[in-house]
Amino acid sequence: MRAADVSSDITEVLVTEEQISAKLEEVAARVDADYEGKDLLLVGVLKGAIMVMADFSRALKVTAPMDWMAVSSYGAGTKSSGVVQIRKDLDTDILGKHVLIVEDIIDSGLTLSWLLENFTARGAASVEVFALLRKPEAAKVEVPCKYVGFDIPTEFVVGYGLDYAERYRNLRDVAILAPHVYS
Ligand code: IMP
Ligand code: MG
Repeated sequence: MRAADVSSDITEVLVTEEQISAKLEEVAARVDADYEGKDLLLVGVLKGAIMVMADFSRALKVTAPMDWMAVSSYGAGTKSSGVVQIRKDLDTDILGKHVLIVEDIIDSGLTLSWLLENFTARGAASVEVFALLRKPEAAKVEVPCKYVGFDIPTEFVVGYGLDYAERYRNLRDVAILAPHVYS
């Protein structure tokens, strides 16, 4: 589905599928170089990161294993609750691994700062973050994010894995959700 298919539900397209695809190639090339010879483990944060993980991991030139974590700091609303809850833990022992967390978006930063602390405590050799999107003005905590796709304004966005009440994840572009949809 493209933004034009749901044009009455969105106010603006922020990032197109084509821009995302070009950015993923660019970040993948950096990651390939930065992790050369290292034991890299990609950790995706469900469910928002599914699209980024699918396309980003395939843009890499190394056979990096993949694991998933499900946490939630959001209910069905559009504001972060600040409470992080583990819904599915990793299957992998990350002791000594170079973990790269693959995320859809950094909003308040609360989820990622919690994950970074958690993974470091489990003995990972290093923990870095790739977030496709970041809302710099919404930060409640600073998260050291080595790879960032796009900085966007503090608006509620959907698409490319990002949902509103589980919908719009299959939109290929990233767009601002029209307020009439959630108010
Ligand atoms: P944070 O803890 O506030 O940084 O964000 C946690 C999670 O909230 C992200 O990983 C997303 O899944 C979700 N989220 C944050 N902002 C948005 C948005 O604009 N649209 C949809 N989901 C969002
Ligand atoms: Mg979500």
